Amino acid sequence: MLDVPAIRTGFPALTREVDGRPAAYLDGPGGTQVHRSVIEAMDGFMRRGGSNHHGAFITSQETDQLVEDARAAVADLYGADPHEIVFGQNMTSLTYALSRALGRTWRPGDNIIVTRLDHDANVAPWAQAAADAGVEVRFVDFDPDGGCALDLGTLDASLDNRTRLVAFTHASNAVGTITPVLEIVAAAHSVGALTYVDAVHYAPHGLIDVRQSGTDFLVSSAYKWFGPHTGCLYGRSELLEGIEPYKLRPAPDTAPDRWETGTQSFESIAGVLAAVDYLASLGRGGDRRSRLADAYRRIIEHEQSLSDRFLARLAEMPDVRLAGRRGSDGRTPTFAIEVDGFDPRSLSAALGQLGIFVWSGDYYAFEVMRRLDRAEHGMVRIGFVHYNTADEVDRVLDAIERFAR
Ligand SMILES: Cc1ncc(COP(=O)(O)O)c(C=O)c1O
Repeated sequence: MLDVPAIRTGFPALTREVDGRPAAYLDGPGGTQVHRSVIEAMDGFMRRGGSNHHGAFITSQETDQLVEDARAAVADLYGADPHEIVFGQNMTSLTYALSRALGRTWRPGDNIIVTRLDHDANVAPWAQAAADAGVEVRFVDFDPDGGCALDLGTLDASLDNRTRLVAFTHASNAVGTITPVLEIVAAAHSVGALTYVDAVHYAPHGLIDVRQSGTDFLVSSAYKWFGPHTGCLYGRSELLEGIEPYKLRPAPDTAPDRWETGTQSFESIAGVLAAVDYLASLGRGGDRRSRLADAYRRIIEHEQSLSDRFLARLAEMPDVRLAGRRGSDGRTPTFAIEVDGFDPRSLSAALGQLGIFVWSGDYYAFEVMRRLDRAEHGMVRIGFVHYNTADEVDRVLDAIERFAR
């Protein structure tokens, strides 16, 4: 089990107060907090006076080493090799860059597949590249009235030998559904399509394994796993070498550097390295990958106990509706709810007054809310992560109950 009280002491923002009372709950998916070791690593880089990389002097060589170490860390997080890791501003920017580069290889008559369960950052960049290339966009649906599971029947029906890409989420940032990544990658590969997995929401909750899934690309953002605002893309090395990025002429033309446009946020990359090490510190084992695997085993155990507690009491509140799975398995501890008589933004504001910070609206899960018939106001999203306690779950439930009466 995780020692949650001990973990919490490493997160300075968790001691924050609202109106003189502790803000016992800070929204997991929407505002994940940063570990002290991450803050120190970023501070250390800036205090030492780091410079741009690839120079012939010591501060630049230190930055080369930092980038190499951070790539090795993210490679351990993803189960990849360090030369397959690309850093960028965030997931959205990396996806725009890759979609432009892939889009120019597509031809009219081709098609690409996206899903209605995805954050718009894994839909719009692809759809816009498809429009530029005159390529059809097909949607995989999900089951809005049940567990919000992806409908693999619509995937099978959409795939054909002109499918160039299947872009899908590892887990929904709105309703928490975890998708069958191995199955989807295998189906896409059976027709020769590439796969692009959005693991932004999944990464704080479960172990990623790009070798096991065989995906061609996968992306997440370190700010969701207790680090800073930097996107981390995995690409299979032949693809990072073979696909032509949009890049400046003097910039390196070898992968992964050729995909990193402009000067990187090296202080943030220092924080990325520290964030992976923080996650690894939650587990036991020999090398960092083994410690990460053990850490996620413990994280899942703890988060499922929070989900069980949350879902059991929520089910007894007749005025509250939940979208998505009613059990703690096959989902992250992220819940989209609504309470009769409250529009989502007012409920979020009312909870905020009690020091419970949760998002309302669509959190850019644009297609999800449309499919749930909630496009106008969205829903309230409550998300827990590994540093949340059972007491906080109760506090959130007490507050919801107060409004649900
Ligand atoms: C599932 C998912 N995908 C993509 C994004 C976009 O990530 P970024 O802010 O790094 O561009 C988010 C952000 O909330 C997300 O939750």
